[in-house]
Amino acid sequence: MTQALSDAALDQILRTARTFNKFQDKPVSDETLKSLYELAKWGPTSMNCQAMRIVFVRSPEAKAKLKQALMPGNVEKTMGAPVTAIVASDSQFYDHLPTQFPALPQARDMFAGNAALAAETALRNSSLQAAYLMIAGRALGLDSGAMSGFNPQVVNELFFPDGRFKANMLINFGYGDASGNWPRGPRLGFEDVVRID
Ligand SMILES: Cc1cc2nc3c(=O)[nH]c(=O)nc-3n(C[C@H](O)[C@H](O)[C@H](O)COP(=O)(O)O)c2cc1C
Repeated sequence: MTQALSDAALDQILRTARTFNKFQDKPVSDETLKSLYELAKWGPTSMNCQAMRIVFVRSPEAKAKLKQALMPGNVEKTMGAPVTAIVASDSQFYDHLPTQFPALPQARDMFAGNAALAAETALRNSSLQAAYLMIAGRALGLDSGAMSGFNPQVVNELFFPDGRFKANMLINFGYGDASGNWPRGPRLGFEDVVRID
Protein backbone atom coordinates (compact mmCIF):
# COMPACT_ATOMS: atom_id res chain seq x y z
CA MET A 1 0.00 0.00 0.00
CA THR A 2 1.26 3.44 -0.84
CA GLN A 3 0.40 6.43 1.32
CA ALA A 4 -1.19 9.72 0.34
CA LEU A 5 1.35 12.44 -0.40
CA SER A 6 1.79 15.38 1.94
CA ASP A 7 -0.42 18.45 1.64
CA ALA A 8 2.58 20.36 0.37
CA ALA A 9 3.06 17.83 -2.44
CA LEU A 10 -0.65 17.87 -3.36
CA ASP A 11 -0.54 21.67 -3.49
CA GLN A 12 2.54 21.65 -5.72
CA ILE A 13 1.15 19.09 -8.12
CA LEU A 14 -2.45 20.29 -8.39
CA ARG A 15 -4.14 22.43 -5.77
CA THR A 16 -2.07 25.59 -5.96
CA ALA A 17 -0.21 24.81 -9.20
CA ARG A 18 -1.03 27.27 -11.95
CA THR A 19 -0.91 27.60 -15.70
CA PHE A 20 1.86 30.10 -16.46
CA ASN A 21 1.83 32.74 -19.20
CA LYS A 22 5.17 34.24 -18.22
CA PHE A 23 8.48 32.64 -17.24
CA GLN A 24 11.63 33.78 -15.50
CA ASP A 25 14.69 34.36 -17.66
CA LYS A 26 16.19 31.04 -16.60
CA PRO A 27 17.04 28.32 -19.11
CA VAL A 28 15.83 24.72 -18.95
CA SER A 29 18.75 22.36 -19.47
CA ASP A 30 18.90 19.20 -21.56
CA GLU A 31 19.33 17.30 -18.30
CA THR A 32 16.08 18.73 -16.91
CA LEU A 33 14.22 17.89 -20.13
CA LYS A 34 15.55 14.34 -19.87
CA SER A 35 14.44 14.06 -16.23
CA LEU A 36 11.03 15.36 -17.25
CA TYR A 37 10.53 12.64 -19.87
CA GLU A 38 12.09 9.95 -17.71
CA LEU A 39 9.50 10.62 -15.00
CA ALA A 40 6.47 11.18 -17.23
CA LYS A 41 7.09 8.04 -19.29
CA TRP A 42 5.89 5.87 -16.40
CA GLY A 43 2.30 7.11 -16.69
CA PRO A 44 -0.05 4.42 -18.02
CA THR A 45 -1.26 4.21 -21.64
CA SER A 46 -3.57 1.74 -23.30
CA MET A 47 -1.73 -1.48 -24.15
CA ASN A 48 1.36 0.45 -23.00
CA CYS A 49 1.25 2.06 -26.46
CA GLN A 50 3.13 5.25 -25.45
CA ALA A 51 1.87 7.12 -28.50
CA MET A 52 3.31 10.51 -27.48
CA ARG A 53 6.29 11.99 -29.29
CA ILE A 54 7.90 15.29 -28.26
CA VAL A 55 9.93 17.98 -29.93
CA PHE A 56 11.37 20.42 -27.41
CA VAL A 57 11.57 23.76 -29.23
CA ARG A 58 14.34 25.80 -27.63
CA SER A 59 16.71 27.27 -30.24
CA PRO A 60 15.94 30.66 -31.83
CA GLU A 61 15.65 28.94 -35.24
CA ALA A 62 13.11 26.39 -34.01
CA LYS A 63 11.17 29.09 -32.15
CA ALA A 64 10.95 31.19 -35.33
CA LYS A 65 9.52 28.16 -37.14
CA LEU A 66 6.96 27.49 -34.41
CA LYS A 67 5.93 31.15 -34.30
CA GLN A 68 4.36 30.81 -37.75
CA ALA A 69 1.81 28.32 -36.41
CA LEU A 70 0.74 30.19 -33.26
CA MET A 71 -2.54 31.99 -32.73
CA PRO A 72 -1.77 35.67 -32.04
CA GLY A 73 -2.67 35.38 -28.35
CA ASN A 74 -0.08 32.66 -27.84
CA VAL A 75 2.87 34.31 -29.60
CA GLU A 76 4.31 36.43 -26.79
CA LYS A 77 4.03 33.79 -24.08
CA THR A 78 5.57 31.11 -26.30
CA MET A 79 8.41 33.26 -27.64
CA GLY A 80 9.16 34.24 -24.03
CA ALA A 81 9.16 30.68 -22.70
CA PRO A 82 12.52 28.92 -22.20
CA VAL A 83 11.24 25.85 -24.05
CA THR A 84 8.04 24.70 -25.74
CA ALA A 85 7.13 21.04 -26.09
CA ILE A 86 5.34 20.08 -29.28
CA VAL A 87 3.40 17.10 -27.98
CA ALA A 88 2.58 14.92 -30.96
CA SER A 89 1.29 11.42 -31.49
CA ASP A 90 2.97 8.75 -33.57
CA SER A 91 0.39 7.53 -36.08
CA GLN A 92 2.33 4.26 -36.25
CA PHE A 93 2.76 3.84 -32.50
CA TYR A 94 1.68 0.23 -32.96
CA ASP A 95 5.05 -0.71 -34.50
CA HIS A 96 6.45 -0.66 -30.95
CA LEU A 97 3.80 -2.94 -29.47
CA PRO A 98 5.72 -6.19 -30.08
CA THR A 99 8.41 -5.00 -27.65
CA GLN A 100 6.30 -2.75 -25.38
CA PHE A 101 3.29 -5.04 -24.96
CA PRO A 102 4.52 -8.55 -25.72
CA ALA A 103 1.69 -10.05 -23.65
CA LEU A 104 -0.60 -9.65 -26.69
CA PRO A 105 1.24 -10.71 -29.84
CA GLN A 106 -1.65 -9.72 -32.14
CA ALA A 107 -1.83 -6.14 -30.75
CA ARG A 108 0.19 -4.57 -33.56
CA ASP A 109 -2.05 -5.92 -36.30
CA MET A 110 -5.22 -4.82 -34.48
CA PHE A 111 -4.15 -1.21 -35.00
CA ALA A 112 -2.20 -1.55 -38.26
CA GLY A 113 -5.35 -2.80 -39.95
CA ASN A 114 -7.73 -0.21 -38.47
CA ALA A 115 -6.78 3.40 -39.16
CA ALA A 116 -9.72 4.88 -37.22
CA LEU A 117 -8.93 2.87 -34.08
CA ALA A 118 -5.24 3.75 -34.40
CA ALA A 119 -6.00 7.50 -34.72
CA GLU A 120 -8.40 7.47 -31.76
CA THR A 121 -5.91 5.56 -29.63
CA ALA A 122 -3.02 7.84 -30.61
CA LEU A 123 -5.00 10.97 -29.68
CA ARG A 124 -6.35 9.59 -26.41
CA ASN A 125 -2.99 8.36 -25.18
CA SER A 126 -0.85 11.27 -26.35
CA SER A 127 -3.29 13.61 -24.57
CA LEU A 128 -2.97 11.56 -21.41
CA GLN A 129 0.80 11.61 -21.71
CA ALA A 130 0.76 15.40 -22.17
CA ALA A 131 -0.99 15.59 -18.80
CA TYR A 132 1.60 13.26 -17.27
CA LEU A 133 4.28 15.56 -18.65
CA MET A 134 2.76 18.61 -16.94
CA ILE A 135 2.25 16.79 -13.64
CA ALA A 136 5.77 15.32 -13.78
CA GLY A 137 7.07 18.83 -14.47
CA ARG A 138 5.29 20.20 -11.43
CA ALA A 139 6.68 17.37 -9.31
CA LEU A 140 10.17 18.34 -10.50
CA GLY A 141 9.65 22.05 -9.87
CA LEU A 142 9.02 22.98 -13.50
CA ASP A 143 6.08 25.21 -14.41
CA SER A 144 4.09 24.97 -17.61
CA GLY A 145 1.30 26.31 -19.76
CA ALA A 146 -0.53 24.15 -22.30
CA MET A 147 -1.90 25.54 -25.57
CA SER A 148 -4.25 24.30 -28.23
CA GLY A 149 -4.32 27.70 -29.94
CA PHE A 150 -2.12 26.91 -32.93
CA ASN A 151 -2.47 25.54 -36.43
CA PRO A 152 -1.58 21.84 -36.27
CA GLN A 153 -1.28 21.54 -40.06
CA VAL A 154 1.44 24.19 -40.07
CA VAL A 155 3.29 22.51 -37.19
CA ASN A 156 3.03 19.16 -38.95
CA GLU A 157 4.39 20.58 -42.22
CA LEU A 158 7.28 22.37 -40.50
CA PHE A 159 8.30 19.80 -37.89
CA PHE A 160 6.96 16.47 -39.13
CA PRO A 161 7.15 16.66 -42.94
CA ASP A 162 7.06 12.89 -43.46
CA GLY A 163 3.51 12.82 -42.06
CA ARG A 164 4.02 10.16 -39.40
CA PHE A 165 3.77 12.35 -36.28
CA LYS A 166 0.71 14.56 -35.70
CA ALA A 167 0.82 17.62 -33.43
CA ASN A 168 -1.62 17.36 -30.53
CA MET A 169 -0.83 20.29 -28.21
CA LEU A 170 1.94 22.66 -27.21
CA ILE A 171 3.25 23.08 -23.66
CA ASN A 172 5.51 25.91 -22.56
CA PHE A 173 7.91 24.87 -19.80
CA GLY A 174 10.12 26.93 -17.54
CA TYR A 175 10.29 28.53 -14.13
CA GLY A 176 7.11 30.53 -13.75
CA ASP A 177 6.70 34.25 -13.17
CA ALA A 178 3.35 34.57 -11.43
CA SER A 179 2.99 38.21 -12.49
CA GLY A 180 1.66 36.93 -15.83
CA ASN A 181 -0.99 34.66 -14.35
CA TRP A 182 -4.64 35.18 -15.01
CA PRO A 183 -6.91 35.14 -11.93
CA ARG A 184 -7.45 31.58 -10.79
CA GLY A 185 -10.57 30.13 -12.34
CA PRO A 186 -13.01 28.20 -10.18
CA ARG A 187 -13.59 24.48 -10.66
CA LEU A 188 -16.85 22.62 -10.98
CA GLY A 189 -17.90 20.90 -7.80
CA PHE A 190 -18.26 17.20 -7.13
CA GLU A 191 -22.05 17.48 -7.29
CA ASP A 192 -21.89 19.19 -10.70
CA VAL A 193 -19.60 16.65 -12.28
CA VAL A 194 -19.94 13.30 -10.63
CA ARG A 195 -22.65 10.68 -10.45
CA ILE A 196 -22.16 7.51 -8.46
CA ASP A 197 -24.42 4.84 -9.86
C1 LIG B 1 -5.21 21.46 -23.60
C2 LIG B 1 -5.11 22.90 -23.17
C3 LIG B 1 -5.12 23.89 -24.10
C4 LIG B 1 -4.99 25.22 -23.72
N1 LIG B 1 -4.89 26.18 -24.69
C5 LIG B 1 -4.54 27.43 -24.34
C6 LIG B 1 -4.21 28.40 -25.33
O1 LIG B 1 -4.21 28.13 -26.53
N2 LIG B 1 -3.85 29.64 -24.91
C7 LIG B 1 -3.80 29.98 -23.59
O2 LIG B 1 -3.44 31.11 -23.28
N3 LIG B 1 -4.11 29.09 -22.63
C8 LIG B 1 -4.47 27.82 -22.97
N4 LIG B 1 -4.73 26.88 -21.98
C9 LIG B 1 -4.65 27.28 -20.56
C10 LIG B 1 -5.96 27.13 -19.80
O3 LIG B 1 -6.84 28.19 -20.06
C11 LIG B 1 -5.63 27.04 -18.30
O4 LIG B 1 -4.85 25.90 -18.12
C12 LIG B 1 -6.87 26.93 -17.44
O5 LIG B 1 -7.62 28.11 -17.50
C13 LIG B 1 -6.53 26.61 -15.97
O6 LIG B 1 -5.68 27.59 -15.44
P1 LIG B 1 -4.95 27.33 -14.02
O7 LIG B 1 -4.13 26.09 -14.22
O8 LIG B 1 -4.09 28.52 -13.81
O9 LIG B 1 -6.00 27.17 -13.01
C14 LIG B 1 -4.89 25.56 -22.35
C15 LIG B 1 -4.87 24.54 -21.40
C16 LIG B 1 -4.97 23.22 -21.79
C17 LIG B 1 -4.89 22.15 -20.74
